[in-house]
Amino acid sequence: MDQNDLEQFQEIVQLILREEENNPVAKPVSVEELSEALDLNLQDDPISDEAFYDSFKTLIEKTPKTSSRSFFNQLIGGRRSRALLGDLVASVLNNSMYTYKVAGPMVGVEREIVNKLAQMLGYSNEASGTIASGGSMSNFMAMVLARDAKSEAVQLGVQQQMILYTSEASHYSIAKNASLMGIGRKQVRFIPTNELGEMDMNQLELEIQKDRAANNLPFFVNVTSGTTVLGAFDNIHEAAAICKKYGLWLHVDGAYCGSVIFSEKYKQFLNGVALSDSFSLSAHKMLGTPLTCSIFVTQHKQQLFESFSSDASYLFQSEKDEYNPGKSSFQCGRRNDALKLWTLWKSIGTKGLEKLVDHQFELADVARKYIRDHKDYTLYSFDDSISICFNYKNIPAKLLSKELYMHSKLMVSHGSFEGNQFIRLVTINSDNTEKEIIDFFETIEHFVAKNSSTLNLNNH
Ligand SMILES: Cc1ncc(COP(=O)(O)O)c(C=O)c1O
Repeated sequence: MDQNDLEQFQEIVQLILREEENNPVAKPVSVEELSEALDLNLQDDPISDEAFYDSFKTLIEKTPKTSSRSFFNQLIGGRRSRALLGDLVASVLNNSMYTYKVAGPMVGVEREIVNKLAQMLGYSNEASGTIASGGSMSNFMAMVLARDAKSEAVQLGVQQQMILYTSEASHYSIAKNASLMGIGRKQVRFIPTNELGEMDMNQLELEIQKDRAANNLPFFVNVTSGTTVLGAFDNIHEAAAICKKYGLWLHVDGAYCGSVIFSEKYKQFLNGVALSDSFSLSAHKMLGTPLTCSIFVTQHKQQLFESFSSDASYLFQSEKDEYNPGKSSFQCGRRNDALKLWTLWKSIGTKGLEKLVDHQFELADVARKYIRDHKDYTLYSFDDSISICFNYKNIPAKLLSKELYMHSKLMVSHGSFEGNQFIRLVTINSDNTEKEIIDFFETIEHFVAKNSSTLNLNNH
């Protein structure tokens, strides 16, 4: 990195930190305004350093600040400095995680994370895995392994109606992946949830039986540990018993809340996970590493290689397969996304990760208590979750969330369950304290009090 850019980098980081503090919700730039508000066009000739840094800094100022105290919009938040350090160094080193020759000990870093997680899950010594580009990719890998374990699809393509099962509350990547891998969206059975948003296991079994009677080939069940909206945990034990009975692959999508495995208090939500065939968690969610860092582990090392390795004599020239991770991952060139989790985990220990997880549940308790103590709020979500879903004064959630954003007050999303639409607060930012959670509610209250006509309050 040249000296000038290095100095500018420090300045830019300071700028971001200042902006997070002073303008935690950057003024939104609409798509229509983009080209006027920002100098994005790429021209033929070089520009001066001064002009470049000016454009770059304006772009940064106007970009949403996902680590600010006012960002509650998605399942990411906060900044773990040690993880950021690892991520930045990974960029400077620029290894590609396909061979031991090119990535060297960084392969050991990835192996350590995968092995340690497999051990914590209670997986056998035959477990293996990879760091994938996100929860969607981890789910994809699980689905491919399951398909290949049950069919000749690797060579022949899908020859039968192969059926997979997931709950209505599961992540959209399951259906998308089904189409990408040649299974087809129509072969996805969306199982209804119970009143807590968890998969109804009786319905799951009934659907499997129906498909078997119709001569279809059930092959895969996805359970979710932390559903995207409510943060509900499907019952892994019951799903495992059904999968065993009918010979199906069980995957646990823990992208959102699988990190409870690090907590003595909350890992009970994953009871039965040792019976699953594969598991994933996104460390860029509850553990707060920079995007992206999703750990995918499976009990079936051999299947992982059979599904994801291809001969390439120009690439794989030395070492055992396990130390050439290009043979067990989707990509060829692959960023070193392991290092940021390793730098975090190494420095704060498993106990430090546990504290991050526990703190998020404590903040969620603070939020639920606030809602229960204040009569203008209605709570729609349940205990034991870091998603807190509510409405305030019955204002339509979509409208309130939009107005809060347009007025640069808060970034918070909305969702729905059983016909109710609500604001979804997530307490995933471990940098937050009780104060930020109370501030969140008070910001809404002040905003509503000042803007009752915009929000058309009298009509609700
Ligand atoms: C349950 C669940 N699975 C998968 C994903 C996708 O994860 P990622 O954003 O890491 O791709 C999400 C994202 O929110 C999720 O909530």
